[in-house]
Amino acid sequence: DITNVLIVGCGGAGLRAAIEAKISGLSVKVLGKRSKDDAHTVLAAGGINAAFGNLDKNDSWEYHFADTFNEGYNVANPKMIEVLTKEAPSSVKEIDEWGANFKKLPNGTLDQRFFGAHSFRRTCYSGDYTGQSILKALLKKIKDLSIPIFDSEYVSDLLIEDNLCFGAMSFNTKSGERTVHLADSIILCTGGHTRLWKKSSSRAKENTGDGFFLGLKAGCQLIDMEMVQFHPTGMIFPEEIAGTLVTEAVRGEGGKLLNGLGERFMKKYDKERMELSTRDKVAIANYSEIISERTSPNGGVFLDISHKSKDFILSKIPRIYRQFIEYQMLDISKEPMEVAPTSHYSMGGIDVDPIDHSTKIKGLYAAGEVAGGLHGANRLGGNSLAEILVFGKKAGAAAAINSKSLNSHQRSNRMIKLAHQNLDKFIKSGNELSIPLQNELREIMWNYCGVVKDKEKLQLGLNNLKKIKKKFSDIDVRVTDGNFDDLVNICDLEASIVSSEATIKSALMREESRGAHQRSDFPEMNNSINFNCCVKLENKLLKIEKRNKVPISKNYLDILSLLENQHTNDDIGSKLLE
Ligand code: FUM
Repeated sequence: DITNVLIVGCGGAGLRAAIEAKISGLSVKVLGKRSKDDAHTVLAAGGINAAFGNLDKNDSWEYHFADTFNEGYNVANPKMIEVLTKEAPSSVKEIDEWGANFKKLPNGTLDQRFFGAHSFRRTCYSGDYTGQSILKALLKKIKDLSIPIFDSEYVSDLLIEDNLCFGAMSFNTKSGERTVHLADSIILCTGGHTRLWKKSSSRAKENTGDGFFLGLKAGCQLIDMEMVQFHPTGMIFPEEIAGTLVTEAVRGEGGKLLNGLGERFMKKYDKERMELSTRDKVAIANYSEIISERTSPNGGVFLDISHKSKDFILSKIPRIYRQFIEYQMLDISKEPMEVAPTSHYSMGGIDVDPIDHSTKIKGLYAAGEVAGGLHGANRLGGNSLAEILVFGKKAGAAAAINSKSLNSHQRSNRMIKLAHQNLDKFIKSGNELSIPLQNELREIMWNYCGVVKDKEKLQLGLNNLKKIKKKFSDIDVRVTDGNFDDLVNICDLEASIVSSEATIKSALMREESRGAHQRSDFPEMNNSINFNCCVKLENKLLKIEKRNKVPISKNYLDILSLLENQHTNDDIGSKLLE
């Protein structure tokens, strides 16, 4: 089974990459561990950023660049941000034409809403189901181009020899059947690892860190793993869905945050931007109110949009309206919601080229949440949907060029045999089960590597992780009676343990507070040194190093200082204070 371009992951980045490779005339195949219609992309709610300036004429890619760079606290790669912000408008237009059907203004151009820390209204949207409408449009295009998607395929290993990737091993999650996929180029689009926190906006069995582990095993480095974004507003009950996203669009459309004393507390944390401050600041504000016990009855803070009409709410945030009716019988046009921070986005990931998203392994690319470098220490809401389209396309195009350039094809029976052995070794009886251990791990990450950390907590986290590692070797995995869930679960757990360890160790190494990385024992940002934490796997052990950042080049500095002087958007804060 040989393919020119193999895509691992059937979310937005994977599908956009597949389309680009296919239209260049190559054979393409997409593998995904979950159902293709229900990839994690469907959960991206509030919108996608592109500096059209449809409502605020002064907007430009340069402003989008400056907002993204500044709010990433100087950790992100400026070249990558330049590519994103310059190319987002054409990608957004394209997906709208393919059927995403974004909300339009009376003049036919795309409507744009406020999202946190953007200088202008820049976020295009379809209600609060923007990711779902993008995925639907991509799937339609995939169908038109007859690109095969094999979902329910779990990729357990990439096939690598001599620093070159020549395929992947997968097993079917329903039948257990194994397939060796030989390919000229492989693109990883497997998402992040935020399901590893007890409260998470991801669902079970997604974002378990499997893409990071595949990358590490292949020989890639991970960067910025300590930079995990906590979204300020997740649902807090019922328990089984705690963490489910309450989109930033609620605040973008005028929602106010109040503590249990009825105070509009964002005045204390960012009086200019209030609820539309950066995500890290709003998450820390919510967290601080909660630990200071100024909470709502169920231990969160209030998010109130009941001053808007039901019609307005149903047209702008219909999913959130229904979500609260369904789970809490709460009519948000009449009463405030209760919310608290939830683990939301992995800003770190596989170290990739800032333009084409190639990795250090020949033939291997990574795009979307699995790739690092774009967001730095804080991601602006709405940039991730732009990222999957822009860099999915770039990676697809680059992989196609690589595939076309090859004169010979490397294969290695030894590596294929090893990939089989890596699965076989799990299948044995034992005294432990993966699911309880995965739940223990989620408690550890939430308790010891949460919104605010310190050395003692992080060390405790590592010690507890060691206990899980010990139990890991005694896990019972049975595949004899048609049940392959055990195998899926143990593969997920192994990847989750490694991704958690990479995160905790990186968080220990960064002895400062910067953006989403908050250390109570190092509360200040240390601007005397600027670096990326890099993680690699050597002899099965994780190694963490600091990589000093190259100072930002003059062109970018010029853009930043020019815009700082020209900034004309002083009215945002006062508008929100109304
Ligand atoms: O709040 C939201 O709708 C999330 C958007 C994002 O993370 O980009």
